[in-house]
Amino acid sequence: MNKLTVKDVPLCGKKVLVRCDFNVPQDTSLAITDDTRIRASLPTINYILEKQPAQIILMSHLGRPDGQPVAKYSLKPVQERLEQLLKQKVKMLSDCIGQGIKDEIAASNEKIVLLENLRFHAEEEKNDAAFSKALASVADIYVNDAFGTAHRAHASTEGVAHYLTSVSGLLLEKEITYLGAALEKPKKPFIVILGGSKVSDKIGVIENLLPKADAIIIGGGMAYTFLKAQGKKIGNSKLEKEKLEIAKEILVKAQKQNVTLSLPIDNVITDKIEPGSTVQITGEDIPDGFIGVDIGPKTIQAYCDSLKKAQTVVWNGPLGIFEIDAFANGTKEIAKCLAGLKATTIIGGGDTAAAVAKFGLENKMTHISTGGGASLEFLEGKTLPGIAALTDKK
Ligand code: 3PG
Repeated sequence: MNKLTVKDVPLCGKKVLVRCDFNVPQDTSLAITDDTRIRASLPTINYILEKQPAQIILMSHLGRPDGQPVAKYSLKPVQERLEQLLKQKVKMLSDCIGQGIKDEIAASNEKIVLLENLRFHAEEEKNDAAFSKALASVADIYVNDAFGTAHRAHASTEGVAHYLTSVSGLLLEKEITYLGAALEKPKKPFIVILGGSKVSDKIGVIENLLPKADAIIIGGGMAYTFLKAQGKKIGNSKLEKEKLEIAKEILVKAQKQNVTLSLPIDNVITDKIEPGSTVQITGEDIPDGFIGVDIGPKTIQAYCDSLKKAQTVVWNGPLGIFEIDAFANGTKEIAKCLAGLKATTIIGGGDTAAAVAKFGLENKMTHISTGGGASLEFLEGKTLPGIAALTDKK
């Protein structure tokens, strides 16, 4: 990486402003249901603490409060979880900018303070220059560790970097290292697994990875548009009609570039997408009135046989509707297959990470990204503004 990291700069006695992605899922009583992203920020926070900074000022968004304070999006539950995990006090502030907040930070004896949700101000998502400057004004140095938000050009991820020396945190660096290595110099054979409901979400990834991958394995809702493009019957399964032509073009391109593009050879089908509905297995063709909801057993076998030959695997998108147990088998079996491989296994964030966690296999993968949209954009080969804005290494 040609950007400065937290290890490249002196931190002793400095006020360090750290952007984390504490956008964590919560239940209706606001209890955090998955603290992966908070845990993932600990190495950077602990590293900075060891260097004896004057203060660490943490900041993040949570949810989409649309530029105004909304109580249920307060970072208070995050502050409580951080205190438990760090085993030290984290002072919660009532806002993220303003003279009062600046004074409170300056007067505080606490080593770590947490600003209130950045998105309580519309200026955050507008990447407003005055707001960025106000955020920067409380610190000597800026650390971006929010990989999950690095695809957003917001004040706290991009704008602020124009006012301070700006370095990546350890999590951001780790994400770039794993995802970047998979794109730049993957050990071959390199197999990409793509799923999720929409082809439209994955076209950029396919286009970017076709020249690099040896094989692309497809499942999930997006598979049915490809099957239709091949002339198969897909019944009432998810179809993106306007993407049929591009799906045909991708099939031709893959053949020309000698990349094996595999589609399901059998499918789990149902007439109703709801928990407890009955399922059947069909071949490539799905009868009218039925919806494909998962890859079938022959497909699982074929995909696992290919994956066993891989040295690098990147997986983005579940292979069926894994949230419903009757439709989760394909995603589960492929996750189990990956867990048993010696290959480097990289899991995109969001739904794929949630699926791997649901099956208790998160410790069996080489790297699970903390970014959903961010990892997708990275795999598309896009420049992420939160990374681009950091200070270059000399
Ligand atoms: C995410 O969860 O993908 C990130 O925190 C970004 O959130 P956003 O999609 O609301 O910008």
